Amino acid sequence: MPSKPIDTSPYTVEYPTLTPPIAWPDIFGDDHPVELEIGSGKGLFLTNAATANPGHNFFGIEMAKKYAHKAAERVAKQGLANVRVLPGDALLFMAKYVPPASLRAAHVYFPDPWWKARHKKRRVFAEPLVLDLERALEPGGDLHVVTDVEEYFGVIRALMATHPRFKIQPEPVVRTPEHENDYLTNFERKYRIEGRPIYRSHYRLG
Ligand SMILES: C[S@@+](CC[C@H](N)C(=O)[O-])C[C@H]1O[C@@H](n2cnc3c(N)ncnc32)[C@H](O)[C@@H]1O
Repeated sequence: MPSKPIDTSPYTVEYPTLTPPIAWPDIFGDDHPVELEIGSGKGLFLTNAATANPGHNFFGIEMAKKYAHKAAERVAKQGLANVRVLPGDALLFMAKYVPPASLRAAHVYFPDPWWKARHKKRRVFAEPLVLDLERALEPGGDLHVVTDVEEYFGVIRALMATHPRFKIQPEPVVRTPEHENDYLTNFERKYRIEGRPIYRSHYRLG
């Protein structure tokens, strides 16, 4: 018998329903601190983080509709009332929809590296995003960035050094996973199993 479709609508936010600038309490129904993830993929970070921090709200933005739907399904299956997923472009959301000083934290995990020189301008982690993060994070807010691409990591570090309000923090302690969901994200799981080096940065806005 085919399995019953999961209703993801309570956990999904669609661009046409939003008017910029948004008010987070309208989205979540409370005024808990908000953490935003750019490029959520299949949503492993969202579900793990929302379960571990029920007093925070988590907003994931994922450009690929298929993955955004998978992430929302994962959230719906776990009934996590403190998560929403927006299918669409996170750069547009950051530039136009997020109110200033309204985010407790932002997470960018394994952003697409766009290897070819002529495609590098498509990278998400670039000057416009950093300017938007500087505006959107509250003072003392955290930015977490992780990549497996050493060259991209160097570019990110150099770019962040030109934004002195972001103070680099000690590297996070990485735990040994005890089960298959005990990873930061799906890409982290894949790359750690492959034994690839992973580069992590944590910044705090002064
Ligand atoms: C390499 S995957 C990593 C996914 C997830 N963070 C993980 O670690 O498993 C990068 C993701 O970012 C998404 N992405 C790329 N550009 C984006 C944008 N401008 N807005 C939202 N998502 C974006 C892609 O669709 C893709 O799912």
